[in-house]
Amino acid sequence: MTVEVIVLAAGKGTRMSSNRPKVLQDLAGRPLLEHVITTLGTLETSRVHVVYGHGAEQILALSENWPGINWVCQAQQLGTGHAVLQALPAVADSAQILVVYGDVPLIRSQTLKAVMQAAGREHLAVLTCELSDPTGYGRILRNPDGRVTGIVEEKDASPAQQAISEINTGFLAAPAARLKEWLNVVDNNNSQGEYYLTDIVSHAVAAGIEVVTCSASDRDEIRGVNTQGELARLERVYQLRQAERFMNNGLSLRDPARFDVRGTLVFAADCSIDVNVVIAGSVTFGERVSIGANCFLRDCTLGDGVTVNANSVLEGATVGAGCSIGPFARLRPGTELAEKARVGNFVELKAARLGHGSKANHLAYVGDADVGNHVNIAAGVITCNYDGANKHKTVIGDDAFIGSNSQLVAPVEIGAGATIGAGSTISRNAEKGKLTLTRSKQVTFENWQRPKKKGPLT
Ligand code: UD1
Ligand code: CA
Repeated sequence: MTVEVIVLAAGKGTRMSSNRPKVLQDLAGRPLLEHVITTLGTLETSRVHVVYGHGAEQILALSENWPGINWVCQAQQLGTGHAVLQALPAVADSAQILVVYGDVPLIRSQTLKAVMQAAGREHLAVLTCELSDPTGYGRILRNPDGRVTGIVEEKDASPAQQAISEINTGFLAAPAARLKEWLNVVDNNNSQGEYYLTDIVSHAVAAGIEVVTCSASDRDEIRGVNTQGELARLERVYQLRQAERFMNNGLSLRDPARFDVRGTLVFAADCSIDVNVVIAGSVTFGERVSIGANCFLRDCTLGDGVTVNANSVLEGATVGAGCSIGPFARLRPGTELAEKARVGNFVELKAARLGHGSKANHLAYVGDADVGNHVNIAAGVITCNYDGANKHKTVIGDDAFIGSNSQLVAPVEIGAGATIGAGSTISRNAEKGKLTLTRSKQVTFENWQRPKKKGPLT
């Protein structure tokens, strides 16, 4: 039997107080909806239908990232039953339908599989959960034999029904043909004037169809996001789950509670990460990579044995084996470090290559530059790459030595083995192997005297 999934994602999320629709709120660097769609990708489903409404333009703008999805507009949010109804014409009668929520990002694929299996060809299966505080949820009604007879929404529930602790998570599966029959007769005669998806349960019972339940393995996987606080709590849950997974695969984390990956991290053996490190985008570590406290890394590749010292920021950088970076270094996009290069404190690199063993150990800006092997860039060196209108390139040959506090005014080339005297402003190419400097001569005034303090002005 083929499975078609309907994702409910039309709600506004008023309590988020945001201009973004709720399902596009960010969890670990990705929209909530993307988490759900990614999980669905691990199931054998034939088709995914996403019912959207609020923030339609923003959602459709992202839809290109997820090809193959059927986007269904629910112009007015008249209830969960109405939302499912919008997608039904596109669903084959012979399929099984799985209903999921776009704002419940941590649902596990094995839980969804259990719901699908429980429904099989004939049943209606509902994912439920026991909660010590069931406030806000629909309650599961059972007869004395324990069979499910219906679901009552909190706003329609009697005090006795409100005391029930088994709640409806919203996830369910049923044969499509049946679901279509039941939903066609669901009305909106309830306290909210909405078409409730949950009303199909009593219709199924009336038709003699067994309603089966599965229970969620943990509460976090069925939690939806309605407020910024709930979003932040789920972010922590997600990050901790991810950290556990990484540690199980050998990553050493000084404190898994102070570690965030907003994207993907791939690592080899014996890597270690100190506290307050944020990894974003796609980051890859070779073996024995060590990241100090308070670092931010986005879209980087680090080779074997790289050390990144505390408080460094690396974005779009490729770092060769054995390099040492920081503390307080900034590698901007397009930085390439060959093996054993060193970038020290308060050094910024942008679109720059440092060759094998080259060093910029303190207080330098190297932008739009191609630096050879074993070059020494001393403290205070600046490549003046921008003339106010255009960017220009600096090329530095192997074994060159750039003295402290020198400015290299691009476009300019420093020959291999050249030495630039400290404090020079180099605006023409410097010859290889020679000393070039632009410093004015040092003079000493033999009879000069310091001014002496005079009395007050009269
Ligand atoms: C729903 C269930 C309730 C369950 C709870 C779990 C119904 C009637 N009630 O209640 O039993 O305990 O979820 O969280 O189903 N949506 C649409 N279009 C609509 C209405 C909702 O797409 O017209 C989407 C929302 O964006 C959201 C989901 O459906 O993703 C659930 O809607 P919500 O309004 O949060 O339902 P609850 O009242 O919480
Ligand atoms: Ca809700």
